[in-house]
Amino acid sequence: MCGIIGYTGPRVAREVVVSGLRRMEYRGYDSAGVAVLGDDGIEIRKKAGKISNLDAELAQRPLPDSGTGIGHSRWATHGGPTDANAHPHVSANGRVALIHNGIIENFAALRAELEATGVEFKSQTDTETAAQLLGLEVAGGADLADAMRAVCRRLQGAFTLVAIDRDQPGRLVAARRNSPLMVGVGEGENFVASDVSAFIEFTRSAIELGQDQVVDVTADSIEVTDFNGAPAESHPFEVTWDLSAAEKAGYDWFMRKEIYEQPQAVADTLLGRFTPDGALKLDELHIPEAELQLVDKIIIVACGSAYYAGLVAKYAIEHWTRVACEVEIASEFRYRDPIITGSTLVVTISQSGETADTLMAIRHARAQRAKVIAICNTNGATIPRESDAVIYTHAGPEIGVASTKGFLTQVAACYLLGLYLAQVRGTMFDDEIRVVMSELAGTPKLIQQVLDGLDSVKELAARFVDQKSVLFLGRHVGYPVALEGALKLKEIAYLHAEGFPAGELKHGPIALVEDGIPIFIAVPPQGRDQLHDKVVSNIQEVRARGALTIVLAEDGDHEVEPYADVLIRLPKVSTLLQPPVAMAPLQMFACELATLKGYDVDQPRNLAKSVTVE
Ligand code: G6P
Repeated sequence: MCGIIGYTGPRVAREVVVSGLRRMEYRGYDSAGVAVLGDDGIEIRKKAGKISNLDAELAQRPLPDSGTGIGHSRWATHGGPTDANAHPHVSANGRVALIHNGIIENFAALRAELEATGVEFKSQTDTETAAQLLGLEVAGGADLADAMRAVCRRLQGAFTLVAIDRDQPGRLVAARRNSPLMVGVGEGENFVASDVSAFIEFTRSAIELGQDQVVDVTADSIEVTDFNGAPAESHPFEVTWDLSAAEKAGYDWFMRKEIYEQPQAVADTLLGRFTPDGALKLDELHIPEAELQLVDKIIIVACGSAYYAGLVAKYAIEHWTRVACEVEIASEFRYRDPIITGSTLVVTISQSGETADTLMAIRHARAQRAKVIAICNTNGATIPRESDAVIYTHAGPEIGVASTKGFLTQVAACYLLGLYLAQVRGTMFDDEIRVVMSELAGTPKLIQQVLDGLDSVKELAARFVDQKSVLFLGRHVGYPVALEGALKLKEIAYLHAEGFPAGELKHGPIALVEDGIPIFIAVPPQGRDQLHDKVVSNIQEVRARGALTIVLAEDGDHEVEPYADVLIRLPKVSTLLQPPVAMAPLQMFACELATLKGYDVDQPRNLAKSVTVE
């Protein structure tokens, strides 16, 4: 989720690039860098931290007034947010500078191959592998576009790449696979960028590159091909958004944009998790397998949405690993003197990686000799730094205060951890793990399917603008889905909303049911007969007492139809994989309702994205 920009034309490239980076800072902001083609070859300035750090560096060590340059604001995936890991990366032979957004899945094998031939790497990034490969291609006499195509054919994963070559001035070559790339078409100048916000102050004519395409750009020409060099069709369009809408890719809120980013975000969480021989691997997990085999209790500790992601994970982890798994709110953890030993595994979940309650829980757990694994979205944040190991979710920055893609990717990462523990401990066969992994790998498409059908949810919200209270019911993993759905409404629509386990209704909550109260019910897949039928009975119970039932049920579930006042269809998945496909309608309902009520969806009252006090 980094920000990428390239420019070639009569302006001072450095200035165009830095202003573009500033507009894309929401895409990534842990380091930034610029490269231009000067008289003495490629010159680079790059700095860890916000773009203001790069500004200071440029003021101290100015770059020449070149007309061709590239720039990058980073959201670290491989390698922490340091100066050395910041982009652009230059090939060891000094020929090319390259920037990258995405994850190159097979970088480790490519890096080993290059190192075996004596190439020396300066960073820990996956990106530098592409820079080195490209440098070797052009040094071998290839034209920059041919070289880029040759490199792309060797890469697996998701990438947008932009490169300049010392010996081919005035030229930018860019490529994309599973990661965005726009070309800004100017008069006598052209741009490439991750999104149009980077260049709409200069031009509103844009081209969106298609999948597996390479674009060769000079000030006066734009040529698009596929990875084999055949001419390719791309999608020209006029940008009609203003600048602030452009940052949000045309959406009114970052939250809405992030809801729609979920298929990509979950796909990125799952990317690169297999070894070539098909075993699940988590590279950032530096705890010896022998220690993981000895674990006799898992405690998941987190706050807010991350806590609910942990509640979902408990069902999967216990089922797959047969190790007892507790889930605890971080702010309660250390004050109750939890039972922790050297064979307890503490798993913390945090999008920001800075939540003080979670951090204090980690310190307490480690002081008691427990091993701590962090699931985190922010590379180099305090929580991963203070943990024994980390699994990054790679969701890209989440700007909306109410978590959406953060939550879903946390669930996906927890599932990866659960399957990995099952592999290490031998509680599942390899083929069983592969079946779950392939179902997980299919979820981004299914989430997209749900997102494509959300119009009815938007209309639904309009019916409840004056509603004072909304309830959510679920069972099994549907229970934390209910809790998270209610939390979204509390956070951004300031509504009283509660989630309950459907089976608990009769022990109290059913007293809340009154005429017309909307109740969302997540119905488990029909494969789980008992569970399914019990929830269908619960729907009838609340409906008989006047509730308006909004039922989320899988395609083909006809049993719920007579009892659903509103029916939201979900794709068919196994029970454990229902949370990823069931969340989007609840998130969208809250987003839409808060919008209709005129609230600030991205920055709700009294809340903060990163809570660094206990
Ligand atoms: C804050 C946010 C929540 C978030 C929670 C945990 O309260 O408003 O949206 O779920 O912190 O944040 P973390 O960054 O640790 O996931």
